[in-house]
Amino acid sequence: MSYPTVNYIGNKEKIVNWISSLIPDDATSFLDVFCGGCSVGYMAKEKGLTVYANDILKINYYIAQALIENNGKIIDATDVDRIFKGEPCEGFMFQNFANQFYFPDECKQLDMIHENIIKIKDKYKRALAFTLIRRSMIRKMPYSRFTIKWEKVVELRDEELSYAKYGRRRHYHNQSFQFHFEDNLKEYNDAVFDNGKKNRAFNLDVYKAIEKIDADIIYLDPPYAGTMNDYFGFYGLLDAYIEGRIVEPFDNNFIDKNTIVKQFDQLFSKLGKYKYWMLSYNSRSKPSKEELLVLLEKYSNNIEVHEMPYAYRVTGKEKKQKDIEYLFVVKNDK
Ligand SMILES: C[S@@+](CC[C@H](N)C(=O)[O-])C[C@H]1O[C@@H](n2cnc3c(N)ncnc32)[C@H](O)[C@@H]1O
Repeated sequence: MSYPTVNYIGNKEKIVNWISSLIPDDATSFLDVFCGGCSVGYMAKEKGLTVYANDILKINYYIAQALIENNGKIIDATDVDRIFKGEPCEGFMFQNFANQFYFPDECKQLDMIHENIIKIKDKYKRALAFTLIRRSMIRKMPYSRFTIKWEKVVELRDEELSYAKYGRRRHYHNQSFQFHFEDNLKEYNDAVFDNGKKNRAFNLDVYKAIEKIDADIIYLDPPYAGTMNDYFGFYGLLDAYIEGRIVEPFDNNFIDKNTIVKQFDQLFSKLGKYKYWMLSYNSRSKPSKEELLVLLEKYSNNIEVHEMPYAYRVTGKEKKQKDIEYLFVVKNDK
C-alpha cells in the first residue's frame, strides 16, 4: 500500500520520511490533530502506531475515515455503477453553485452523485466514495482550490485559450467526474490497509479534540500564519457539497499574524496530557522559530528543533520559494 495522490495544500508528503525518523521510539499512539489530507497520519499508520486523525473540515474527516480508520473496505465495480447511475438533477450544487465553480450540467451531475453516495450504507465505502469524488472535483478545478474567480475558471478551462496563453491545454479539467473517479480508484483502493490497530477519525475543532483524545504523541501541523492558509476558502465548498447545505467558515484557525503568538500559547497550555509534542512550522511564517521556542520552553527542558530545506510551490504561482521546514520535538517534562 502507499499514500495516494490527495494533493492537499500544505501537505507534508515530501518530508514525511523525515518526520517519521523523528518519532520517539517508545510511543505507540499518535494524534494527527490538524490532519488535512492525512499524509502524516497515514505514515504513522504504516509505522504501526494507533492513529487518531482529526480535522475541522468535514472532507478531511472523510479522508481520515477512508484511509486511516478504514481497515479494508474498498469501492468495487458494483459500487461505481451505483454511484454514477441515474439522471443528473437540479439539487443543491445546481441551485447554489452553478457557474461559480462548475458549469450547470456538471453541478447537476454532482447532485446526482451525491444522492447516490449518501445511500451507500457502509460508512467506510461512503467515506472512500466522498474522498474519490473530492479528488475528481479537485482535478476539474483550476489550481486545485476553490478560491478562483469564475471568469478565471472559465478561461483556464477553455483549452484553446489556455494553450494560447499558458502553453497548456489542461484537458483534465474537462474530463468527467466519473473519468477522474475511475482513474484514481485503484490507487485509493490499494491505499486501504489494516495495521492491526483501532485507528479513528474525528471532525472536531482542535480544542475539542484535545479534550477528547489521548495519545502518546500529539502532532501539530496547523495552518502557517503568513502563508497560503485559507483552508475554508480552499476546501469549504467540498464540505458544503458533502453536507448539502451552505457551511459557515470556522473560527480559530491559526491564520491571524496578530494573534498567532497568543493562540499558540493558549494551545500549548492545554497539551499537558501528551508525552510528546511534534510541531511542524516553517521559516516564512509567524511566530519565528525563536518565538516558538520561548513559548515551548515553559513546558519542557527537552526540546529538539530539526530543520529541513523545503521548496514550497503554490499551484498557479511560478515562483518556488525556498524555506526551511522546522520540526519541533518536545518531551513534555515540566
Ligand atoms: C497545514 S494543514 C495540514 C496538512 C496535513 N498535515 C497534510 O499533510 O495534509 C492544516 C489543517 O488544519 C486544519 N484546521 C485549521 N483550523 C483548525 C482547527 N481550529 N481545528 C482543527 N483543524 C483545523 C485545516 O482544515 C487544515 O486541514
